[in-house]
Amino acid sequence: MQSESKAGFRVLVVDDEIALGKNVCAYLEAQEFTTVYADRLDMALNLLEQDLDLDLVITDIYLGSDTEKAGGHIVCDAASRRSPPLPVILLTGKPTMDAALEGLRGDASDFLTKPVNLALLHKRALQAIEGRKLKLELMELTEVNRVLSGILPKAIEAKDPTTGGHSDRVVSYADNLGRRMGVSAEDRKELRLAAQLHDVGKIGIPESILCKEGPLTKQERQVIEEHPGIGYSILEPMVHLPRVRQWVYEHHERWDGKGYPQGLKGDQVALPGRILILAEVFDALATARSYKKAWSKDKIADFFVEEAGHHFDPDLSHIVGEGVRAHGADFFRQEPEAGEPGGKPAQAQLF
Ligand SMILES: [Fe+2]
Repeated sequence: MQSESKAGFRVLVVDDEIALGKNVCAYLEAQEFTTVYADRLDMALNLLEQDLDLDLVITDIYLGSDTEKAGGHIVCDAASRRSPPLPVILLTGKPTMDAALEGLRGDASDFLTKPVNLALLHKRALQAIEGRKLKLELMELTEVNRVLSGILPKAIEAKDPTTGGHSDRVVSYADNLGRRMGVSAEDRKELRLAAQLHDVGKIGIPESILCKEGPLTKQERQVIEEHPGIGYSILEPMVHLPRVRQWVYEHHERWDGKGYPQGLKGDQVALPGRILILAEVFDALATARSYKKAWSKDKIADFFVEEAGHHFDPDLSHIVGEGVRAHGADFFRQEPEAGEPGGKPAQAQLF
């Protein structure tokens, strides 16, 4: 039973009480909706399996022939299997706490009791459709973000193949170190993105300099040192993630202020930014490049201990130096140990 007299949102209404179902359809049709009506579970499931363009399902929870699982919840399951999933408003004439909880535990977007207030149902239907639209837009943006943050580092690596996998490794090192230092999950999400994109500015550096074998001249070094600023400009459209852009800009700063491009000192660079600086250098030392071999773990460990308070945040630098001396690159794959900032509390001494 279908009515397609009006354009607009299309809703599947499922109710075994035909008079009530028809009433809901008539009310929604008088608004901006087109309705499709089913008075049985099997009919509703058939409609949901068809490639029918729908924006919302409104269903009674109890559909007459219900046995173990209420028919409305089976409709809910079918709606959630659609791609993209459909929002569902559940209706019931037996408003119990159990039914409400069951509805909320499932995939239902909303829950209304009978007798149905049609104006309220209309309002909630619009909200559910708007909520789905926003969710789809967010999924799309997340996908675009994921693709872009993956493409840009690959573009750099295509230009300088010796840095293959550098961004991915820096993401993993920075994330692990962030966890050990107690950086929040939200901040680590942005730190991972900054780590992925940190060298994006190298896209603007000539290959003859980027891939040069042997030492760089002073002028060539000055050109290379422009890459954090170029990265900052490239990421200008990233208006909602200013810290990501900031940490990319700061990834060659030093604790003692002798870095570039701004010569920032100490905690003028926030902790996640200081972690990124260190993770980036660790990977550069631990892997072979066109102009050098990979360093041994003891040489790297000595370097971090010596550079504590000079190149790097002293606490971070000691933690990494000693960790790398004991475990090599595996240090960055380990869970934080008891007593470390991101680890479990150390056990209290008994005596
Ligand atoms: Fe860099």
